[in-house]
Amino acid sequence: MEDLKILILDDESRITEKLKHQLEKKKYLVYTANTPNEGISQLALHLPDILILDVMLPGANGLDLLEGIKKDYPTMEVLMISGYGDMDMVIKALRLGASDFIRKPFQIIDIQMAIERTEKYIRMQTQLATVEDRETLVSKELSSLIEKEFIGESFHIKKVLDMALKVAQDGNVNVLVTGENGTGKEIISRLIHYASPRSKAAFAPVNSSAIPETLLESEFFGHVKGAFTDAREDKKGYFELVNNGTLFLDEIADMPIALQAKLLRAIEENRIKRVGGNKEIDVDVRIISATNKNIEQLIDDGKFRLDLFHRINTIEIHIPPLRERVDDIPVLLNHFVKIISQRKGKECPLVSEDLIKKLKLYAFPGNVRELRNMVERAMILADGNELLPDDFPLRGEKTTVNVSTGSLNLDSNEKQLIEVALKQCDYNQTKAAEVLGISRDAMKRKIKKFGIIISKEIC
Ligand SMILES: Nc1ncnc2c1ncn2[C@@H]1O[C@H](COP(=O)(O)OP(=O)(O)OP(=O)(O)O)[C@@H](O)[C@H]1O
Ligand SMILES: [Mg+2]
Repeated sequence: MEDLKILILDDESRITEKLKHQLEKKKYLVYTANTPNEGISQLALHLPDILILDVMLPGANGLDLLEGIKKDYPTMEVLMISGYGDMDMVIKALRLGASDFIRKPFQIIDIQMAIERTEKYIRMQTQLATVEDRETLVSKELSSLIEKEFIGESFHIKKVLDMALKVAQDGNVNVLVTGENGTGKEIISRLIHYASPRSKAAFAPVNSSAIPETLLESEFFGHVKGAFTDAREDKKGYFELVNNGTLFLDEIADMPIALQAKLLRAIEENRIKRVGGNKEIDVDVRIISATNKNIEQLIDDGKFRLDLFHRINTIEIHIPPLRERVDDIPVLLNHFVKIISQRKGKECPLVSEDLIKKLKLYAFPGNVRELRNMVERAMILADGNELLPDDFPLRGEKTTVNVSTGSLNLDSNEKQLIEVALKQCDYNQTKAAEVLGISRDAMKRKIKKFGIIISKEIC
């Protein structure tokens, strides 16, 4: 297949130029446009394989453009870029046929990963079109696609992949993915969706702890006009928007108990009512939930409903921490080194045996995310063509965090750890999240949850 053609339509020329520069290094043919009209004529001229489309454009809404473009060019893959937090818009974009969305501000790697995913999909579709035996090819391609994205050679990971593939085939079973921070819960959930009969519909990640409690019900189930003061028009909730797709309930253990009852009803009956409405609306949604907490303990403490637990947990997929599957460290390490050097257009360095030995002895509290961040850092700082043990300073070698509240209460210790990490990182939230081995989004949610005051807002 020829080099992929990409058109970027964003009114900020700073963004289009920067992306063009980075993506051209990866041998894509890149075109840019800064106004909707320019974008439409470039589309017709170059017929790109992928369009990267901003939502806020002068004189036009990217979602309206998306709708028209999908009608005129149904096979064109569209990646949307949108502002932070506008979940409705994101789901709408997916429903209108966008292949992915990336929140602003983003890092180039986010875009590159989305393009790589889309590229794999496009190449798979091209192959499919030329082969007769579609069904066997689909399943073969899907399993290799899954294995390419979710790396691991250990017995544990093979078991996780095997289960993921099996549950993917059945599009209706609800799955609970458990594991520590950074073990790959979200990536495996996405893979299940994209390998399932629901793959053409949306995969929508929702984190209820990021939504104000007063809005939760309406976010999930929608509302009718006049249901409350701000309800100026009818609105669909996640269940309707994601219909036929997969709702990914991240950090399910944090879901308020009042919402748990309503969620249970929706899952049991496959039916919802919008807030303030009487009409029963049929919905067909697969639920994949994720947690790093011990839900059984929360049930004992009366914080999580047992009946809901049974409903969301038809199959549990547990991803063990990296320290319990050290056989995955070399393959993951090589995988990250390879993709990061490709991205930087650098030659791929060698990985020393001593480095692997050193990493196999490390506990990896932040799991695979931490390993990935270490590789990123080492590849910026290391000189020479071999990565050595010294290029990977390990946490605990220099600093240890002492938490001594005298209590074993998880919440208060968690809050204190976050405060210590923020302080150590000079209130840079991204760095502090890295130190804690959690994502930046998770960090933001926890800061909000615990009401932590950031005295120095950097990122
Ligand atoms: N087996 C794997 N192969 C390749 N990349 C992986 C694997 N596991 C995790 N990753 C990478 O590690 C990072 C964290 O993964 P992910 O966000 O899925 O973790 P998580 O379990 O949802 O974490 P959290 O609990 O903090 O939300 C991502 O960059 C992901 O791509
Ligand atoms: Mg996650």
